[in-house]
Order: sequence, then C-alpha cells, then structure tokens
Amino acid sequence: MSSKKTIITYGTFDMFHIGHLKLLQRLSGLADELIVAISTDEFNRGKGKKVMIPYEQRAEIVENIKCVDRVIPEENWEQKVTDVKKYGIDIFAIGDDWRGEFDFLKEHCEVVYLERTKDISTTQLKRSLTNFISIPKEDIINAFEIIEALKKDFE
Ligand code: CTP
Repeated sequence: MSSKKTIITYGTFDMFHIGHLKLLQRLSGLADELIVAISTDEFNRGKGKKVMIPYEQRAEIVENIKCVDRVIPEENWEQKVTDVKKYGIDIFAIGDDWRGEFDFLKEHCEVVYLERTKDISTTQLKRSLTNFISIPKEDIINAFEIIEALKKDFE
C-alpha cells in the first residue's frame, strides 16, 4: 500500500485572493498531493451564489498554483463521499467557516478545519468593487489629479 497522503478541499475560489492562496499552501503542507474541487457555475447558481469569474477561468487559475496537483469540478453537495473513495483521499480539509459541517466524512477520512486568513473574502472584494464603482466619476478624476500633483511635489 502507498504511504503517499492525498488531501482534498472544496470551494468556489472566485476573484482569487490571498486567503485562498494561504489556504492552499497550508493544505499542501499537510499531504503529498493536493486536489481542489472547484464549484461549477451551475452548482453556485443552485446555491444562489453569483460568481464574477466563470468556472473555466477559476479552475485554470487554481490548477496553475504551484502547490495544487489536480482540479476537479464540484457539481453537487453529495459527491464528497464518492470523491474520497475515488481519489483515495486521506484528509478532507476546509476553512473553519465550515467547522462541523463535514464531520460526517470522518468515517471515510480525516477531517480538518483550518483557520481562515483574517480580513479578506470574495464577499468583501465584491463589496469594495460596488463601493468603488458607486463613487462619482468626477471624484475619482479629482483624486487622481491630487495624487499626480502630490507626486510632482516629491520629485
Ligand atoms: N478561505 C480562507 N481565508 C479567507 C477566505 C477563504 O481560508 N480569508 C478559505 C475558505 O474557508 C474555503 C476556501 O478558502 O475553505 C474557499 O473559500 P471561498 O468560499 O471560495 O472564498 P471566500 O473568500 O470565503 O468567498 P465568499 O466570501 O464568497 O464566501
């Protein structure tokens, strides 16, 4: 039997940010192979979650993170037990915003909840973007003009 450990995680990974990167890096430190299941656009729609970036691009970004070995689609809530068996998973891990939610997997593999990175989330980024867009165009232009003038003062 192989002693190679495989870990799996699930998530949307929309507007890929530092919290996502840190989670993936920590996960890869817990095993030899890291599989990331990315929620498809259809699965997100079913959950009432709107995504900014389409599945193909979210998957391509995560696939190209150095510590990620494989990306698979997450298409429904029920696939986890099947995935654990299919990919010979030793550890299921996810951020602690999901603490307790996946304890039912403990009969198939180890279940780990990792602390989230503070002060960053896709929801927060979407909110910042909305606030940014709602700033009147003239105010943004004025702000840039002030920055340019300040830069000149320091030259
Ligand atoms: N995650 C994390 N630290 C953060 C944000 C996310 O460790 N600051 C983890 C989540 O706990 C999850 C994975 O990254 O295990 C993917 O989370 P996802 O829901 O895609 O990212 P969020 O930024 O939490 O997105 P949203 O605000 O839409 O829930």
